[in-house]
Formats: sequence, structure tokens, C-alpha cells
Amino acid sequence: MGLIPDEIIETVRLRSDIVEVVSRYVQLKKKGKYFTGSCPFHHDRAPSFTVTPDKQIFYCFGCSTGGDVFKFLMLKENVTFYEAVHMLARQAGVAVPVTESPARREKERRREALHQINSLAKDFYSRVLQQHREAAAARRYLAARGLNRDAWERFEIGFALPEWNSLLGFLGREGYRSDEVVEAGLAVKNEAGRYYDRFRNRVIFPIRDAAARVAGFGGRVLDDSLPKYVNTPETPFFSKGRLLYGLHLARPAIREKKFVVVVEGYLDVITAHLHGITNAVATLGTAFTVEQGRLLMNYSRDVVIAYDADAAGVAATIRGLDILQELGCQVRVLSIPDGKDPDDLIRKHGHRFWEELISKAPSLIEYKLQQATGGGTVKTVAGKLEVMRMVFPNLAGMNSEVEKEEGLKAVAQVLSLSWETVAGEFKRFNKKQGNKWLKPDNFTKTKHNIVSEEEKPDARARAEAGLLRLILEEPSLGTAVLGEMGEEPFRRPSYNKIFKYCMEAAGRPSYRPVEILGYLEDEDQAVLSRLLTQEIPGADPVQIMKGYLESLGRCSRQERRKMLLNEISKAEKSGNKSLYSQLWREYLVLRVIAEAEKAGDRNRMENLLQEYRKVSGANDVGVP
Ligand code: CTP
Ligand code: MN
Repeated sequence: MGLIPDEIIETVRLRSDIVEVVSRYVQLKKKGKYFTGSCPFHHDRAPSFTVTPDKQIFYCFGCSTGGDVFKFLMLKENVTFYEAVHMLARQAGVAVPVTESPARREKERRREALHQINSLAKDFYSRVLQQHREAAAARRYLAARGLNRDAWERFEIGFALPEWNSLLGFLGREGYRSDEVVEAGLAVKNEAGRYYDRFRNRVIFPIRDAAARVAGFGGRVLDDSLPKYVNTPETPFFSKGRLLYGLHLARPAIREKKFVVVVEGYLDVITAHLHGITNAVATLGTAFTVEQGRLLMNYSRDVVIAYDADAAGVAATIRGLDILQELGCQVRVLSIPDGKDPDDLIRKHGHRFWEELISKAPSLIEYKLQQATGGGTVKTVAGKLEVMRMVFPNLAGMNSEVEKEEGLKAVAQVLSLSWETVAGEFKRFNKKQGNKWLKPDNFTKTKHNIVSEEEKPDARARAEAGLLRLILEEPSLGTAVLGEMGEEPFRRPSYNKIFKYCMEAAGRPSYRPVEILGYLEDEDQAVLSRLLTQEIPGADPVQIMKGYLESLGRCSRQERRKMLLNEISKAEKSGNKSLYSQLWREYLVLRVIAEAEKAGDRNRMENLLQEYRKVSGANDVGVP
């Protein structure tokens, strides 16, 4: 794969107009400084999607997707970063030389190396399973679960020996350093500085990504000991929430059958495929994520969820349903009878029975109604209202009026109410929700909305966001913040990351905030895009910054007071008198400061603060 120099990337960005590119897919309307439209990445009722030409970014207030023009194409066309740059470069008439270049190149090189290590490890584990004397128990275990040699080969199943460093030894002979093996997640370094294999005495399931590269592994014990599975640890290069086990194998069948089945585990996928159900993929036991939903949507929008019948499975199902619906998928639920998982079920009852269950799989609304009513009848008015509250968000999210109408009928029937009554309640519900949707700035989230990490911002969150937004625009201000608050001035980890890259990039004369996107992982890209979408309130950056810093100081002192009260009551209970009075003194000083502040007595407040800082040695509490 070609590696593109940063200057070329920036040239392509400069010559491509994000509004023009997005307009090829989304109808945009100008609204002041930015453009809005219906989000192409989730089923969007209000136009929550924005493009800010000033900053050359897009951001959706509904599903928190955001990034630059490259990111947009990557998501829309399902291409890699490099492909997106090439596409736009062609259109902009920029020649892309393939040469060596810094940060991005390093990241790509590391990713490449990790995939190579993983690929070698996969072959090693597989050879061990097939040939090694000490793998006899594993072979017996797999046979007992109905997995023969064919299955091993098809799913590249392997075995990790009980030894502490058989893989390390092998990879060492192949020329890899132990720390590289650790980085790939295949080995661990202990406190004494010794390395050992992460996977020992486990059956190994390699996990490939959508591009069919070996991204990581799951390893299962041969008995009932715990933990049942060990997986490659989460790193920027391996994240369970972004992968679907079996996707590279299931792809053709998903396209052909026009739907996909989502199960929980490795063995559910394997058994399904071995029985001809080749459109199954697994979410690896994690809660279903928006990223997994997007990945699926590249192949089909018709999704059947077939999770285990236990409580965790049901909770995960409901979450998955909401995410998939929000993304615009049609969802059905295959309920597995009596506490089993798809693996047991298919093995016992076979392919036919499975198809039958699929054909009977209830729609999202039917399933939610079942869950909400527990399958029985709801007699009380309060109970009926509660059920409606649970399913209305989903009804509101349905794409077609026909679907909505069918859904309302189902609700009326289950609750023994007239259609008119239910429709009336639904109308009222929509009215209330509607208002919220019209104000993307409010950041309010309806319950069923895609889970986003953004909570309703409190004073600290607002001040942190404002401060960082300002620094992104005027990096010279960041130096002052660095001096006063250190390298990690923010509570929110993604802000600190963005801050760090901003401080690094700001030295360059051509610095533009949008460049930082290239250094960030997906979630942080969304955070940055959202920040850049915000406008700066006012014209005097220094003054504005002062305001934010004061607000942060206030928050810290308030938090400190709250904590002190807690500590004070603890000290009181434990009878620690000296601690008690020391805490009280600090608390009282903070109270006096707060009062001076409230009264608008600036001088007095600053004097008190200085005193306080001297006594407490506190750093961020005293800011500014
Ligand atoms: N999982 C995990 N870590 C665990 C337990 C589960 O990563 N400690 C993930 C694995 O991807 C697993 C999936 O969650 O495949 C589903 O878990 P479970 O149903 O417990 O396992 P099965 O795959 O069904 O395994 P088995 O049939 O052997 O019990
Ligand atoms: Mn199982």
C-alpha cells in the first residue's frame, strides 16, 4: 500500500470542498455559518447533520459521527483512508507520489507488522493443533464438540501449548522481538521484566477483520475453568467493538440471502456455518456497537439478532435492536428457546428448524412488546402506559408509515386497547419528542437514541469544551494552559489527546485544526469534529479564555468542597480530631472564597485564593 506524504494530504484537503463532496450524497441547506441536512449515517428524523466549511468538517448531532472530507468518503464509500485521499486527489488534479512520510506512515507500518505477527502466530497455533503430541486433549475436546479437521481448517482453529513461551520462542526464531509480540497482544511482560505467552493451554480462534487480515485471537479453555475466554487485549489496532467474527467468510452468503444473522460467540458462528447457515457473524460477546452496525450495513440492512436466551443476551439484544434501527436497518429477533445458545440449538435440531425459527422471528416491535409484557397481559393503566413508553421510540423511528401502522396495531392488540387510543398516545409522544429534535444545540438525547458519550454538559464539561475549542483556534493560548495546568489539563481523556496533538502541530506555520484528525482514533475524531462545529463566543480570545479558566476553577473548588464534606463526616465518625479540624479549616476557606466570588468582590477573592494556594499547595483548585 502506498504511503502519502502529509503535505500532499493537506493539498488534497485544501483543493477539495467538503460541502461539494457531501452534497453528492446529502441534500444540504445553508444555515448561517454551516450547512445542515439529514444524516447519511443513521436514520435521521430531524436534520441533525452539519457541515462546517470554515473548518472543513462534518458532524452529526444525532449519531455523533464526524470527521473531515476523507472520513466522510471512507464511511460513505467504505474505503480506506488511502483510497479516499486518492479518490479526491484524482478529482482535484493532485498527483500523489508514493513516498515515505512520518506519523501516518509509522502507524501503518506498525499495523502491518502486527498483522504479520498475527498471521505467523495463527499458522503456528494451527500446526500445533494438528501435529503436536501435547495437543491430543485439545483435539479430543474439539471432536467432542463436533469439530473435525475440516472445521479446524475452515475456521483456522489452533491450539496454544501449556508452556510459558512456545509462541515467543517461535516468533523469536522468525526474527521478532519480544516487545513486538507484546504489542500484538500475544505475549505479556510481567513486573520482573520477563515475557510470557498470553495464550496458554487454550483452543485458539483467529479473528479476521473485514479486509480478512488476522486482527486478533480468542482462546478457550478445555474445561470449565475461568476465564472461559482470553482475547487479544484492546488496543488502537484491535478492538472487539469494531469487529464481527466470521464476517469475511459470511460476506457472500449475506449478499446472496439478503440478510445477516448476528450471534454472540465464536462457536455459534462455527456451528452455524458448518450446518449451512453461512450468513452468521458474531459480536464477540460485547454489547453491539454502532461501528459493528455500520460494518453490517455495508452488506445488508436486514438483520436477525440471535443472542443467547439468558438475561445478558436479552439486554444485549435490546441494545442491538435500538442501534440497528437507528442506523436504518430492519431488525428481527430470533428467540432461542429454553436457555440455550445457537450452537446447541443448531446441533440438536438442525438447519431446518433454524430456518423455521427465522421465518417466525418477531419484528422489533413484536419482540419489545413481548419483553415489556413478559408475554402475559397488562391490566393496569400505569402498566399499559409504561409499555407504550418502551416501544414508542422504536415506532417513531420506523422508516415507513405502513410499518408504523402495523406497529400501532400490534401495540393495541397486546394491550387490549383500541387502535384510536394507542394512536392518540403515540401522537402526543411524537409531539413531545419532536421539540427536542429540532434543537440539535440542546444536545438532548432521547432514550432510544444511539448511545453517545456526550452527557448533558455540566459547567465543567462546557468550560472544558470551550477552552479546548479556543486553543484549537489560537494554539498560542495553549502554552499558558500548559504552564498552569500541566500536560493533561482536562478531565476528559479525549480532550487531553486532542490538546497534545494540537500543541505538537501548532508549531507549523500552515497549522489548521482539521489536520489533527489524522492522528486520532474514530471516537476522538468525532469529539474533535463536534468541538470544531462550535462557534467561539466573542472576539477577544484572551478574555474568553480567562472566563473558561475561572469557570474551571470554580468547578474544581465546588468539587473539592463536596469531597471535603464527605471526608469531614468520615473523620468525625472515626474520631480523628486533628484531621477533622484541618478539613474544616480548608472547607471554611473555600466557602469564604465562594462567597466573595458571589458578591463580585474580585480583590478579596484573589487575595483569598492566593492564601489558599499557599496553604493547600493545590494546583487546579486554585486556578486561576
Ligand atoms: N467471551 C469473551 N470472554 C469471556 C466470555 C465470553 O470474550 N470470558 C465472548 C467470546 O467471544 C464468546 C462470546 O463472548 O464466543 C459468547 O460467550 P459464551 O456464550 O459464554 O461462549 P461460547 O462462544 O458460546 O462458548 P461455549 O459454547 O464454548 O461455552
Ligand atoms: Mn456456547
